[in-house]
Parts: sequence; C-alpha cells; structure tokens
Amino acid sequence: MFDRIKQLTEEISSLKAEMPEEVEQLRLRYLSKKGLVSVLFEEFRNVPAEHKKEIGQLLNHLKVSAQEKIENLKTSFSGEEKPADKSVDLSRPVDHMEPGTRHPLSIVRNEIIRIFGQIGYTVAEGPEIEDDWHNFSALNFAPEHPARDMQDTFFIARDPEILLRTHTSSVQIRTMETEKPPIRKIFPGRVFRNEAISARAHCIFHQVEGLYVDKNVSFTDLKQTLLYFAREMFGENTQIRLRPSFFPFTEPSGELDVSCNICGGKGCNICKYTGWVEILGCGMVDPAVLDNCGIDSKVYTGFAFGMGIERITLLKYQVKDLRLFFENDLRFLKQFTSTI
Ligand code: PHE
Repeated sequence: MFDRIKQLTEEISSLKAEMPEEVEQLRLRYLSKKGLVSVLFEEFRNVPAEHKKEIGQLLNHLKVSAQEKIENLKTSFSGEEKPADKSVDLSRPVDHMEPGTRHPLSIVRNEIIRIFGQIGYTVAEGPEIEDDWHNFSALNFAPEHPARDMQDTFFIARDPEILLRTHTSSVQIRTMETEKPPIRKIFPGRVFRNEAISARAHCIFHQVEGLYVDKNVSFTDLKQTLLYFAREMFGENTQIRLRPSFFPFTEPSGELDVSCNICGGKGCNICKYTGWVEILGCGMVDPAVLDNCGIDSKVYTGFAFGMGIERITLLKYQVKDLRLFFENDLRFLKQFTSTI
C-alpha cells in the first residue's frame, strides 16, 4: 500500500495535458468512483489498525494533491479553446508597439493654446448647447439677423431659445459676465452650423476665439497680437494683411489674411493665385457688447478674434479635403506626429 501511494503521488505530480479533453480523461482515471485513487480508499478498509493513521494521512494528501493538479491543468486551458500553437516561438523578441498619435486638429489646437499662452492668454470653455442670449442677443445680433436663420443654426426641439452654439463667442459673453477686466482668454471648442458637408465645410467644426479687455486696448494691440500669432504658426517670414469686414459684435471689424505658406506668396491653387489666404475674423469689441455683459464701455475697450481650427490645419499641413479630419482613417491620422 505504501509503495502504491508513493508511486501514484509521483505519477500525478508529473501529469501533463495538451488539450482540455485530456484533463477530463485524467480526472476519470484518478478521481472518478472507479479511479485509481478511489480504489486505494476502498482498500483502506483492509489496512491493519496500527497503520491506519499513517496511511490515512498519506491517502488524504494524495487525493488533495490529485484534485489540485487536475484543477491546475484545467485552469491552464480556460479562455483558450484551441490547443497551444506550437508554431509560436515564445522566446522571440516582441513586435514593436506603435504609440498612438494625436489627431491633427488636437495638434493644431494645442499649438494655438501654446502660442497664446506665451503672451498671457489662458483657456476657458463653455457649453455646446447654448441659449439665444449668449450665442446671439448679447453679441448684438438684431432679432431679424439672418445668422439666426434655420439655414445656419441647429435649434433644439423647435425651441428657438435653445440651440447648438454656432461659434465660441458665446463663451466670451459668459466670461465677460462673470469676470472683471483685465480679461485675456482664448476659447477653444466645437461649434455647429447647418451647412452642407463638402471639402471646405462641415456642419461640425472647431474654433478658437480670443478676447482681450482692459483699459486702453487699441486696434494696434490687435494687429501686433495677430502678427505674432501668424508668425509663430506659419513661420517667421509670414506677412499679414487686414481687410475690412463686418460682425455684429465688433466695430470696426476685419478679416486677417496671411501670405500663402505653400507658394510663399507667388500664387498657387491653395491661395487661388492671390498669394494670400484668409485665416480669421477679428475686431474691436462693440461697446454695446461690453455693456450687455456689465463692463463699462466708457472705461474699458477690447479686441476679439476667432478662427476655425480646421482651416488653420488645412493650411499648415496642406490637406485638401476637410472631411478627412472626421473619417478617422488611420492611414491619414498616422502622418501627424507631435510632442504636444
Ligand atoms: N464669431 C465669429 C465667427 O464665428 C468670429 C469672430 C470672433 C469674429 C471674434 C470677430 C471677432 O465667424
């Protein structure tokens, strides 16, 4: 009996299985009612009384270790249906894991935040679902202004009071309502306009707007700030020009062109052979807007600007179709690398 227990203990401890089915066969062979271990238990009855204690302990030990062994073999297969693939050489070096890259729009947004951060601008964000006041009325849009039209604005649940913001100027209003000048902030965020999707337009896009309100802020400050930005973003030889424009919330208003960074100003199809590309709208904050927000327009002046991140990204990376930013095609996204 002693020797048989010893022999079985050794046999069981060196058991191996290559498939779950084999484990089941082993369980039957050793632990089923007629299994080798169970048979020994039956024979235990005939063991002389003086050996019962010692042999009983050995037998129990054998049974427990057999059960453990079978359990271990079983769990080594759990979660794996197929037999281990012997063609895999586990000693080979692992494949290089490619780190993810940032989305080009995130790269450019971070770059804009960095550029303005260097001259003291901090970031503020606001809600994408807005009310008429913050998106339009406080910004001097007359009640019948065409920009409120269904053509441009997504209204929520047919309620003309609640809408998806069409620009992040709404966050400028929220900031001016709650903070006292000096205010020097930029407002990155997603905006929505009911436009047909094409290579140059999308119904969802991203903006960064900026606001500086203090005593004695002048148009010269605006111009110099934009020149600094354009050169940081597109290179130190970049030229700028301002064209008169109109926005209900700025007076005077302008649009900023930069010299085409693709042809260097000589003329190409990106700049439509003019040498200039438009990148943003800007102007001096209309005194009525300051007053709407509780900032005394007799004491303070300010400037504001707003740009589309998609547009800056198209120009910076010479991407021809804006829809590529939303398709998440890895072949496109992999081409952009950045440390910020
Ligand atoms: N809010 C304007 C737009 O979305 C951009 C802008 C911002 C213009 C600030 C002037 C001043 O088109």
